[in-house]
Amino acid sequence: MISLALFFCSHCGAQFSKWSGRCTECGAWGSVAEESDTKHRTRDRSDSKPGKIETFAAMTEGGHKGPPLQMTGLSAFDRLLSGGLVSGSVTLLGGEPGIGKSTIVAQLALSIAKDQTKKILYVTGEESPQQILLRLKRLTDRIPDTLHFLNDTDADVIAATIEKEKPNLTIIDSIQTLRLADVPGTAGNPSQVKAGTAVITETAKRAHAPVILIGQVTKDGDIAGPKLVEHLVDTVMMLEGDRDHAFRILRVLKHRFGADDEVAVLTMTERGLEEVADPSAALLADRPELASGSVVTCFMNGSRPMLVEIQALVTPAGYGTPFRRSTGFDTNRLNLLLAVMARRAGMNFCDQDVFVNVVGGLDAREPAADLAVCLALASAKLDRALPPRSAAFGEVGLSGEIRPVPRAAIRVKEAKRMGYDRVIEPSSSRTLSETLRLSL
Ligand code: TYD
Ligand code: MG
Repeated sequence: MISLALFFCSHCGAQFSKWSGRCTECGAWGSVAEESDTKHRTRDRSDSKPGKIETFAAMTEGGHKGPPLQMTGLSAFDRLLSGGLVSGSVTLLGGEPGIGKSTIVAQLALSIAKDQTKKILYVTGEESPQQILLRLKRLTDRIPDTLHFLNDTDADVIAATIEKEKPNLTIIDSIQTLRLADVPGTAGNPSQVKAGTAVITETAKRAHAPVILIGQVTKDGDIAGPKLVEHLVDTVMMLEGDRDHAFRILRVLKHRFGADDEVAVLTMTERGLEEVADPSAALLADRPELASGSVVTCFMNGSRPMLVEIQALVTPAGYGTPFRRSTGFDTNRLNLLLAVMARRAGMNFCDQDVFVNVVGGLDAREPAADLAVCLALASAKLDRALPPRSAAFGEVGLSGEIRPVPRAAIRVKEAKRMGYDRVIEPSSSRTLSETLRLSL
């Protein structure tokens, strides 16, 4: 008999043989819980009969063209999913509370429900059916008859319903509310989330019914609990952004049926989330001309370039350790860039408080944003603006060199399209120090 008694961290998914108050892998407190579906294997392998094997070639006969796709009618969603929802697929949509997950799935449901032949099932767990009705009423004038709801959180009941009704789309909001009667623990604990998702996934495949699961994520961007289920689902999407800003980024992190680096830029309106046709124009709309500490850079969001403004503010520090604060840019990376600027470009910020902000509530996680951050810091410190129509991108290395970044030509083209024709880009012959001197 093999005993698989294990403890899991709901934060990072690390596995332990004993309980502890703090996960030694990711450092989260109180996140380690027992995996209760502990298996005691009693079956002898020699009891099993061998399975039947088949050739892939046989599958291609008879014009097999892969699983059928169902367009959702929301163009951003269809593009990210490489055409639409695959029959029997399970998609996990993650995002922080309040970011708009329930809104976007409601829009999706309404869009598919326009076709009278489709049946949609909205499984409510987190909110009451009344709350969901209110949201739907905000989004549409007429609620379609094809939109059904099931007010239950028992994964077995939900699975049985999917199997019987075979909806064209099932939405489960959220996996943290799923529970199974024979799994110990309350809804939301790792074993419940895992077991519940496994039941739903299995059913979706068997009934050829696509399912969208909503998963809450923590502030750090981990799908709490759902980190454990990423491998069970076919597609993982993430809705990101800052709740206090209008812009949202819908990103594909994993996709078994197509490309996984696609993104869509959306904005929250009175009538739900809408795709932004020209993100660069929208993000630069309110940019002041010739302000010190402001630099335009070009991100790549999947295959799409996007111009974004990075702002820096530098002020004399009081006593003690100076402040380093950033919104949308990693603070550790900021500290590193400040060290490089001090050591390699002779620009010291040790007696100054430094603030960096990526405008629009977006996240600058690409190293290509380094150069723009350095230029913004230098521009703020010297109180001198960059020449008009300038944009910059490039990775800054520890020796003060500016390293090339992928897809430079696309970035330059996007900058020029928006009228930023003086692009400061990586060049092997120019260091950070020289670039700062020449640009400011
Ligand atoms: P919600 O979808 O409930 O977020 P989540 O499910 O991710 O927790 O909605 C988030 C916010 O969106 C909420 O504060 C209200 C706002 N909102 C709009 O601005 N416009 C709309 O049309 C809707 C439906 C919501
Ligand atoms: Mg919600």
